[in-house]
Parts: sequence; structure tokens; C-alpha cells
Amino acid sequence: MPFYVSQGALPPKRHIQFRKADGELYAEELLSTKGFESVYSLLYHLRPPTATLEVRPWERPLARFLPNDPLLNRHLRAQRIESKGNAVEARVPVLGNDDIVISVAEVTAPMEWFYRNASGDELLFIHEGEGVVESVLGELAYRRHDFVVIPCGITWRLRPTTPTRMLVHESSGAITIPKKYRNAYGQLLELAPYYERDFRAPVLGAPVDATGTFEVRVTSRGRSAIYTLQNHPFDVAGWDGYCYPYAFNAHDFAPLVGQLHLPPPVHQTFEAPGAAFCVFVPRPFDFHPQAIPVPYFHSNVDCDEVLYYASGNFMSRRGIEGGSITIHVPGAWHGPQPGTIEAALGTKETNELAPMVDTFRPLRLSEAAFTVEDRAYYASWASGVGAPR
Ligand SMILES: [Fe+2]
Repeated sequence: MPFYVSQGALPPKRHIQFRKADGELYAEELLSTKGFESVYSLLYHLRPPTATLEVRPWERPLARFLPNDPLLNRHLRAQRIESKGNAVEARVPVLGNDDIVISVAEVTAPMEWFYRNASGDELLFIHEGEGVVESVLGELAYRRHDFVVIPCGITWRLRPTTPTRMLVHESSGAITIPKKYRNAYGQLLELAPYYERDFRAPVLGAPVDATGTFEVRVTSRGRSAIYTLQNHPFDVAGWDGYCYPYAFNAHDFAPLVGQLHLPPPVHQTFEAPGAAFCVFVPRPFDFHPQAIPVPYFHSNVDCDEVLYYASGNFMSRRGIEGGSITIHVPGAWHGPQPGTIEAALGTKETNELAPMVDTFRPLRLSEAAFTVEDRAYYASWASGVGAPR
């Protein structure tokens, strides 16, 4: 919900009679969040979205998570996890807690059914690939290094035009633009690292005027079902409001750069309950003549820190590959590996691209995560080369 959007045919007032050319009323739907107290959109369907023919169980495999015990900094070679299928079925959970589940997915097929996650918002980071997120609010094209936010309760499906590797964050709440980036009127501040025109909203086409049987898979906080609807979910002639899927490309993030090293919060993109999202993008390094470009040694006592290595010079770091994930835990130290501080002196820029999420409750690891773990990672500061952040 970066800003107000209005598309297609709308009546002059909300909640009044609005008729189609044949004289029938449009079916107005309020798509609201947090009850009726947060962002919402009003949709005008050709037919009621409620016409349900059948409901049957959707038995989803439950992800099993194990504690990060002993408490360790870990490196997961997540790109080695086998994954294929559509944008929901291809997900392999890697890390999770009660606030968020982080999965990897190699999306090789379009969704033949519609999906409706009523548990919370989803944030997709597109590592590779392109395609379209089709939703009840229109079509949103995505490309490499996009972040795509899909609000809770929106009916959507994803159609890749090329195989799409993505990192999926399923939040238990809303994924939003941090308040620190907005003025009192909601507009993005001059100091924000992005601007309204950097965000892309769906484009609404002609409503799909079809009846028949349409499968919508619904999930909400551990409960799931497969609904067969009589009316096509994408039969919307117009909508307006603040609740819709949107995309933002990491290369449109304008990083703050300082004379001396700036801390990770300057790289923040989004926030969610129990989680803060950042992205490290290609940028000039600190410009003090004696600046140390790599970070200092540190330990995040409040959070687990998860980095996803998308592209850039981390490839030369020992053991880190494109698609690797590191988790740095509270209580343990991390920072530059031996030799990397001296090696970095005088470096003018970095071409790394790495999304990060900090979680404020402990993350657990899935069985899949343990199968691709680089078990020597915690010792890499003792003798290695490379520079985990
Ligand atoms: Fe860190």
C-alpha cells in the first residue's frame, strides 16, 4: 500500500447502487485488513464472490522445524535444495518462527488454481526469472531482483514466463513500508531510500466474464481448504484503495552512503511483526580516506540476522554461493573474516546484492536446511578468507 490507486469502472460514491449495462448490480466487495481499521480496497465484481459450490480439505504438508541448538552462526547452501512446481507447491521452508516462515522455491510451472493466504502478507524476492502475478486487482509483471508484496487475503496466482527462483517470506501480519520513511500525511519523505514512483501496482484488464468451476486454495493460520467457486475470481470491473499487491525492484533502492560505515537500518526496505527487512545493493563505499569499508565485528543481541546472497562479489568469499543463506545469531560474534579488513582498504564500491531479514524471535531450521548446511561455517573466522556481514 504505497499510495491510493483507482482503476477501471467505479461508482461516484462507495456503497451505492452501481449497475452494469444489462441493469444488474455490480457486486461490491470490501477487501479489508486488521478488521476494518487498516488499509482496504473496494472491488466491483460482475458477480458475487461468495458463490461456493464445494469445499474440501486441502492437506498441506506441515513443515517441521528444529531449534538452532547448539546456538550457531550457520551457512545454508539453500540453492542446493530440490524444488520445483508452482509458486505455492515449490516452496521448501528453510527457517521459521511464529512471526515468519522463510522458504526457497524454484518455480517451474504456473498455478492451475488460485491462492488466498489469509494468515498474513507475503513478500517474494525474485532472485532469477520473470513472469506475472495475476490477482483479483489485475496483473503485476515481475522481474529479476523484484520484491513483490502480496497482502493478506488477496486471491492470486503466479505465472512464470521463465523459471523463477525466489525467496518467500510468509509473515503472520502486515509487511509495510516503515513509518520512519513517511511524513504525517503518508507521503514518502525526501530522506526515504525510495519514492512512490518506484512502486508498481497491478494493471487491471477487462473483467473475466466466466462462470463454471474455479478452484481457490485458502489457508489461514494452520487451517486450509479448497473452495470451488461458481464465478471467476478475476471478474472485477474496477477497484480503488490502498490494499493491493505491489512490486519494487532492489535496483531502485537508493542507498544512503556515508563518510564512515553506516549501520544496517539505513538499508531497511520493509517491516513486519517481529521482523525488519533490509537490502544491500550495489553502492559506493564510505569515502573517508581512512575508512574501513567492511563492517565491524558485532553481535546482534536482539535478533537473528538472515542474509540471502543474490548476486555480486560475495561469490569470491569462501563457501558462499549465489542463493546461499547465512544466519547470524544473537550472542555469537560475526564480522570480517581474517585478512578481509586489510584487503578491503581503498576499495571504492561493492556490487553485492543481498536481501536481509532480522527476526526478533528465535528462528528454527527445517530438516531441509540442515541437509544443505556448511557445517564448518561457524569456524570460518578462525582461519578463512571472506567477509560475512
Ligand atoms: Fe551483522
